[in-house]
Amino acid sequence: MEKVGILVVSYGSREAAIIDALNRSLNYNVKLFVADRQLNPFNKKRSRKHVVIPDLNNKDICKFAETNEDEIDFVIVGPEKPIIAGLRDLIEQKTKIPVLCPRQKYAIEASKIEQRLLFKEIAPNANPRFQIFNPKDYKNNIDVRKDVYLWLDQLENRAVIKPDKPSAGKGVGVWGDHFTAREELFEHFMSNFQYGSVIIEEKIDGEESSFQVFSDGEHIIPLPSVRDYKRAFNKDKGPNTGGMGSYKDVQDYLPFLTAKDRDDELSLANKIFQKWKEKIGDKTALRGVPLYLAFMHSKSGIKILENNSRPGDPEIINILPLLKDDFVDVCYQMLNRTLTKIRFGKAASVLTYKVPPNYGGYMTVFPHFVDKTAVNTPVDLSKANSLVNKYSDQLRVYPGSMEIRDSKIFALSSRAVAILGISDSIEEAREISLEGVGAISGGALWNRTDIASKQHILNSKRTMELLRSNK
Ligand code: AMP
Ligand code: GLY
Repeated sequence: MEKVGILVVSYGSREAAIIDALNRSLNYNVKLFVADRQLNPFNKKRSRKHVVIPDLNNKDICKFAETNEDEIDFVIVGPEKPIIAGLRDLIEQKTKIPVLCPRQKYAIEASKIEQRLLFKEIAPNANPRFQIFNPKDYKNNIDVRKDVYLWLDQLENRAVIKPDKPSAGKGVGVWGDHFTAREELFEHFMSNFQYGSVIIEEKIDGEESSFQVFSDGEHIIPLPSVRDYKRAFNKDKGPNTGGMGSYKDVQDYLPFLTAKDRDDELSLANKIFQKWKEKIGDKTALRGVPLYLAFMHSKSGIKILENNSRPGDPEIINILPLLKDDFVDVCYQMLNRTLTKIRFGKAASVLTYKVPPNYGGYMTVFPHFVDKTAVNTPVDLSKANSLVNKYSDQLRVYPGSMEIRDSKIFALSSRAVAILGISDSIEEAREISLEGVGAISGGALWNRTDIASKQHILNSKRTMELLRSNK
């Protein structure tokens, strides 16, 4: 069997799922090298060489690649930080190893302004109305406030604040959720504006979906749509998180959308990709996952909330286990510009994340729900892993922000472990995911209990019906 050496740059559960998909290859003898944010038990067990680089800095990742250059055939990068910081450009300069992610210049996740300007040019109808505020244009806060309020008049206050770059300020803020008065909105705005440019855009009502593509730079293969649960607590309350769970339906589109919505998504993504590719002229720049569009389905069609330049965490985890093609072959097709088709099994999948007590501010809001005696105790994954054997291909347990310490497994500060159920319906997939969740003990971990619940999906359906009837 052909041997292949693959370096995976890993942040959390998303990369455990990538490693699992590579490791299940039937066509190749896979040797894995992992540059990891922590001593992840899943990744460690499956890798030939594993190195921990807690801040995932490109210099150290590249050094690891250089040291093992003879054995590595290509690199896959999951997290945004190294991609945005130009890991592909660096490794491809220093070694002969190709890297599977967009080039730095086209990793537009780095700038919300760049994204808005690109979409304004090539898909204006999908952009919410927006205005850019640049600190360099202002001498004092009085003028800033005047301009912000003028724009709020036009938006009738229904605004979303977005720092251009991931910043030390308060980040994205949504009218009605994070503030209900102009003063509060302005305070949120200023907390970001002190660090750099900020967008104020129209708040869009609707239902969200995540749309990802695999690309070889010339072609895109759209992946099935996934619904992410961004908010920390049940009923979509609490602060935004990286995503507390997600689901996909048996077909490629979500239960609250229609086949026509999916067609609209496909034509929008194709239009964006074709026009963007023409502008660039570099046939390999956009390989990997250059488009991961967060859509809002509104009464006036699809709007783009943002674009990411990497696979979604958790969204890609809902999809990778359903691949019918060998994932190593798919990676080679992306690298060789021969990606024309990917086959997926028809199944639903539901993912629930278990997270540590402080994540999303849970311990502060619900202190009485946290078993204080269990905080920072080891997490026992053994029962869940036995269930994986029982369910065979229908359950996956992917540790993320977890490390091996003294031969035990401990949760760190971010999303700890993803539990994915796969079945013929969302309901069954959800039951399997929740059975896996119930089998994990220790560490005072908690999870949202309404991921893919009947009620939550019904609410999404009702919202869409209402929006469509009030057109
Ligand atoms: P982001 O940090 O850009 O992923 O945004 C976080 C969340 O803010 C999204 O998942 C949406 O729920 C919400 N959001 C962002 N932009 C908008 C918008 N223009 N209208 C309504 N909600 C938005
Ligand atoms: N689940 C949201 C993200 O990957 O950005």
